[in-house]
Amino acid sequence: MPVISVPYAFNEEELYVDLRSIFGHSLFLKCEGFNFAGSIKLKAATEMVEAAERDGVLTPESILVESSSGNLGVALSMIAASKGYRFLCVTDSRGNLSTRMMMEALGSEVHMIAGQEANGGFLGARIAYVRALCASDDRYVWLSQYTNPSNWKAHYRKTAPEIARQFPRLDVLFVGAGTTGTLMGCARYFREWHRPVRIVAVDSVGSVSFGGPPGRRMIPGLGMSMRPPLLDESYVDEVIRVEEADTIRTCHRLARRGFLFGGSTGTVVSGATDWLAGHDARELTAVAVGPDLGERYLDTIYQTNWLKDLYGDEVLDSDDVAAGSWASSPAQPTRWGRSLDLQTGDHHGNQHHQFHDRKT
Ligand SMILES: Cc1ncc(COP(=O)(O)O)c(C=O)c1O
Repeated sequence: MPVISVPYAFNEEELYVDLRSIFGHSLFLKCEGFNFAGSIKLKAATEMVEAAERDGVLTPESILVESSSGNLGVALSMIAASKGYRFLCVTDSRGNLSTRMMMEALGSEVHMIAGQEANGGFLGARIAYVRALCASDDRYVWLSQYTNPSNWKAHYRKTAPEIARQFPRLDVLFVGAGTTGTLMGCARYFREWHRPVRIVAVDSVGSVSFGGPPGRRMIPGLGMSMRPPLLDESYVDEVIRVEEADTIRTCHRLARRGFLFGGSTGTVVSGATDWLAGHDARELTAVAVGPDLGERYLDTIYQTNWLKDLYGDEVLDSDDVAAGSWASSPAQPTRWGRSLDLQTGDHHGNQHHQFHDRKT
């Protein structure tokens, strides 16, 4: 019986969903949404705050500030409230309302940046805003999740060993790439593991993390509008890029089976099931990391008008649209996403695939 007195002391580490009955491929989805912050970002937030405390950077007078599309902001709000720090989160219009309200309920201040950049992203504007705050008052302490090594170390110390303990014969690991903290922590750990594990990064189309043209991205969590400073591609075997429409279809498909997951989980599962369909995967032990759950996306990924406005009717099943529901009828596995083997340069998958080209 876990009994805790601070909210960051609990995290479910051992929960996996076997997706075989839904997608027809054996894939174990590690569920990272069962903690008081509701996402995998609890780990990075805890590690970064504790490192800043150890280094003497954080003092009782400090005001934590961070640029976050939401989940890190919620985790830092929770930790700041528990430890008695002030916290200011800089976010943008892609973040969802409930996430913002959660941060405010936990006592944080939230500043929303409106201006979108020419490359379709908000990140540069958010970071410029944080820098200006820090220059204006030396009580501000910016943890900088995009560059802070404690971000990936959290997953090297926790997420990867949690997986390794449960799957000592792991063959392939699918990890979504945002800041790439989760990806790099897991990839570094498994590089030192006693047997080879194929590390497959999953990114969204429109993200420039691994090269490729920038484009509109409306689902927060994965993808970046700049190259992630933490990323070292020499640890990554392959990259799969997934269209947001396919992310949405996958989220809906999971929801129809009673699993309400967040957008980045839909992206990772989309990419992973496509990869498994394109490989002889019967004998492979495959794990995917699912960063959060679906409640935070009720007014976006699970909301008909939002979906129709942004993606058109194709993302919805016509019968169900008429009935006012987002859900589409049981479908065949969607095929998309082309992957590039970063170590050999070989492409895998079919002609509909989006792919990363390192030279662009
Ligand atoms: C829902 C969700 N998924 C995935 C990620 C990406 O994780 P990472 O930043 O470790 O790459 C994030 C990061 O904020 C997230 O909030």
